[in-house]
Amino acid sequence: MSAIRDSLTTSGPAGTEDLTARFTREFGSVPAGVWQAPGRVNLIGEHTDYNEGFVLPFAIDRTARVAVGTRTDSTVRLLSTYGDQGIVSMPLDSLRPGSAKGWTKYPLGVMWALRQRGIGVPGIDLLLDSNVPLGAGLSSSHAIECAVISALNDLTGAGLKAEEMVLATQQAENDFVGAPTGIMDQSASLRGSKGHAVFLDCRNQDVNLVPFETDPADLVMLVIDTKVSHSHADGGYASRRASCELGAEVLGVKALRDVQVGDLEEASGLLDEVTFRRVRHVVTENDRVLQTVELLGAQGPAAIGALLDASHVSMRDDFEISCPELDLAVEASRANGAIGARMTGGGFGGAAIALTPVSSEHKVRDAVVKAFAGAGFTAPDIFTVTPAAGAMRIA
Ligand code: GLA
Repeated sequence: MSAIRDSLTTSGPAGTEDLTARFTREFGSVPAGVWQAPGRVNLIGEHTDYNEGFVLPFAIDRTARVAVGTRTDSTVRLLSTYGDQGIVSMPLDSLRPGSAKGWTKYPLGVMWALRQRGIGVPGIDLLLDSNVPLGAGLSSSHAIECAVISALNDLTGAGLKAEEMVLATQQAENDFVGAPTGIMDQSASLRGSKGHAVFLDCRNQDVNLVPFETDPADLVMLVIDTKVSHSHADGGYASRRASCELGAEVLGVKALRDVQVGDLEEASGLLDEVTFRRVRHVVTENDRVLQTVELLGAQGPAAIGALLDASHVSMRDDFEISCPELDLAVEASRANGAIGARMTGGGFGGAAIALTPVSSEHKVRDAVVKAFAGAGFTAPDIFTVTPAAGAMRIA
């Protein structure tokens, strides 16, 4: 895992020509095309997606790319520019949950999910390249899945709409990879747009693109990858999800989306202490998403700092999915000029974001690096991201 992480963080995606040339050299044929899909940063709205709530992620300027060619038989051959596995080859018919390892779970999971939906998937050769850091909470796995499903949607002529591709990749994650995740990441990757955040209603998949650009406001969005690896197939994510389901059941609602901030006082008398705090996070976080959308429209990104901060506190204290490295990244950023900061993604590691005035960028970077060294933590990787386009065919 760490070797893959290192090569991914340091190398950019190969140019289209390189990827096509490498594909041709490795597989002995020319690919039918090249598709790319981005990772994502969630601006705000954490662990609200599987509660049928609101999220506000954006697609980032870091992508997974796949060169894909169809075969005449039903064999799948997979190769990545960063793995040490060489070409992984398997018959399509042997695909089942548990049958794949490492990064191959993601393309194979997508193929499996499409077949579950009765879509005739052909054998393929596939070469993957990516510069979305793995395990950093930036949805590297969904970037791969969304690049692959875009390719297969085009190559099979299945004509799936973005909403259907979202559900198919969710099925791949939930049932093939074994991570009980929601729909936020793939929605951002498939439906993102340059200069916008994706305001998604997870109850009905309605999307509103909200203008979100840091440059004109003299801000940068810093990502601080703490290098603490996480996996949503581990227990923490599932146990938070179970608490939310329990909360909804006790409160007699279909999903926590249906609980409002004003209902919390009554809810506190009905729920045990821990479940109440989990519920309070989701309910207040949904409200913060709505407030963020409103403030972005009315005043622009410089106005949302306090909401980012409040989101982090809620995840740290109520939902309990932060970790010392994420808390330190947030604190050091805020103490040195960031106007708002929070952990982003599923938690238990991964990355924090810090919305920072351009004039304070160096100070924040230096302060975070020093704070990590002082605490004896692994040096973080710090970089900027901008809201970028969603998945597309590029060759
Ligand atoms: C992960 C999951 C998403 C979402 C976030 C938390 O990224 O894949 O579905 O639940 O965690 O907001």
